[in-house]
Amino acid sequence: MNIAIIGSGNVGGSLAQQWIKAGHNVLIGAQFPLSEKNISLATKIGEDRFAVVENAIKQCEVILIATPPEAILKILEKLGDVTGKTIIDATNAIMKAPEPYQTVYHALADKTNAEVVKCFNTTGFENMLNPLYQDEGIDMFMAGDSDKAKEVAKKLALDCGFGSCIDFGKSDKVELLEKFALSWINLAIMQGMGRNIAFKVLHR
Ligand SMILES: NC(=O)c1ccc[n+]([C@@H]2O[C@H](COP(=O)([O-])OP(=O)(O)OC[C@H]3O[C@@H](n4cnc5c(N)ncnc54)[C@H](OP(=O)(O)O)[C@@H]3O)[C@@H](O)[C@H]2O)c1
Repeated sequence: MNIAIIGSGNVGGSLAQQWIKAGHNVLIGAQFPLSEKNISLATKIGEDRFAVVENAIKQCEVILIATPPEAILKILEKLGDVTGKTIIDATNAIMKAPEPYQTVYHALADKTNAEVVKCFNTTGFENMLNPLYQDEGIDMFMAGDSDKAKEVAKKLALDCGFGSCIDFGKSDKVELLEKFALSWINLAIMQGMGRNIAFKVLHR
């Protein structure tokens, strides 16, 4: 897949490395001059993968948004025609909503004709860089109204090494998925368990 990553910090930078390893064509839609974080990422993935946001989006059929949630209002102005493209929202707007929207997913669903899915928001970026615990892949979760976007997100989660990508439901479950992310943050940070923890659904 040709994937544009908008927001290449902890989350976007980790997923970029994973997807390149899996054989995808990754372009970073960056702000110039490049930030320290992006200069460091460039030493790992190559400077030739960095483009201005508009160009990265134009060249790719899949777009990951991994910025602070409020940045979506500026990014929307640069998206252009994204009809039929898949946009994956990895942000968490629980602390700061991109008003007047509750989440970035809702802003994208309202303002674009893209296939939108919420995914890659429910665990720490370290778990995205390495989703294996005792050689077993932890779970990723996704929500949204587009089956096509969910198929893409699922494939990209499995390509990172997640054990499965569980469907949390349609767009009415997007905010619940952000609260689920807050549950991970609560255990890892507020309750002091540390960031090397993860969720997995068990069956019997
Ligand atoms: N950290 C986690 O473990 C984690 C896990 C799940 C979800 N999330 C969510 O993922 C999102 C990103 O978190 P993060 O920790 O990866 O943040 P981060 O390391 O601070 O990275 C943010 C990225 O967004 C870019 N950015 C900011 N404003 C932009 C704009 N207007 N246009 C284009 N790019 C812009 C930054 O570019 P510059 O470098 O040029 O400033 C940077 O690359 C947040 O919504 C967060 O809630 C985080």
